[in-house]
Amino acid sequence: MHRIAVIPGDGTGPEVVAEGLKVLEAAAGVCEFDYETKIFDYGGRRYLATGETLPDGALEELKNYEAILLGAIGHPKVRPGILERDILLKLRFGLDQYINLRPVKLYPGVECPVRGKGPEDVDFVVVRENTEGLYVGAGGFSRKGTPHEVALQESVNTRRGVERCVRYAFEYARKSGRKKVTLCGKTNVLTFAFDLWERVFNEVSSEYPDIESDYAHVDAICMWFVKNPEWFDVIVTDNMFGDIITDLGAMIQGGMGIAAGGNINPEGTSMFEPIGGSAPKYTGKNVINPLAAISAVGLMLDFLEEDRASKLIEEAIIRLLTSGKMKSLSAGKMGLGTREVGDFVARYVREEKA
Ligand code: IPM
Ligand code: MN
Repeated sequence: MHRIAVIPGDGTGPEVVAEGLKVLEAAAGVCEFDYETKIFDYGGRRYLATGETLPDGALEELKNYEAILLGAIGHPKVRPGILERDILLKLRFGLDQYINLRPVKLYPGVECPVRGKGPEDVDFVVVRENTEGLYVGAGGFSRKGTPHEVALQESVNTRRGVERCVRYAFEYARKSGRKKVTLCGKTNVLTFAFDLWERVFNEVSSEYPDIESDYAHVDAICMWFVKNPEWFDVIVTDNMFGDIITDLGAMIQGGMGIAAGGNINPEGTSMFEPIGGSAPKYTGKNVINPLAAISAVGLMLDFLEEDRASKLIEEAIIRLLTSGKMKSLSAGKMGLGTREVGDFVARYVREEKA
């Protein structure tokens, strides 16, 4: 019995999560596994009503679940930063989800914005460190509001945090049959943080002679995602660079409508989410693309060791994408409604069981 916590969140989050759950139900029926879900109402609406972001005891309660499915956090009436820090980042840090795993895979039937690149060229995974770096909130102001104001924001990189992330990337490469791990850094400027990353990377990589290792600066990576995405297989990087390059990655795989990620604690509760935001302007219109949330369910099932269910979902998504039924992956331009997309994927999962 899998125990899954569901945080639909704000904006279009609840709509896409509903389609994810629809597909989960189909996959559970076909693959004959049991699961239970519990909905948690964390997000902007609860915050505006009660002043509470994550209530006391939320982290402890969530630790009783194997996985969390998250829709989106972010509300136009809440000042940016509050919900991100006190809900999303608090969950990632508090549950020690030290890996943010973001596959960048262009599916057949999806138009790549980079001319001449197809599914065989865009298929890699970014392993983003998820609990350290610039995201820890180290730093502060002095002389705030004066002409001599100073603002410092420091990147925290611990030996243990870097090593477990790099090791995860190599293990992931080996387990998933990938051939190469590239460290994405900035060793020419960030001579402390990425010195540590580089030393750890070299040490760990020597334990994996079967996996090729490589290094690229983050700025060059941005260039090569567009020019030569086929060069990449597994990329490991820090929290901030991982955040930035995975938005670019999402674009070359067809956009936010399809990009999903997992916040992984291999020994604890992991959280799966579409990478896109709460899209307030599309809320409640049945126009948002739920494929990213459905892909997040696929990723989640992979981590719950329901490999066949995960595979069926991916195949069903590809079947829909190659059917010509979807005109676009962008909200409002799909030619199908949010619920219809979910219905098709759920139906294909059921049909593909043979
Ligand atoms: C992401 C988002 C978050 C991040 C924000 C909302 C805090 O951009 O999941 O990539 O920066 O990690
Ligand atoms: Mn981001």
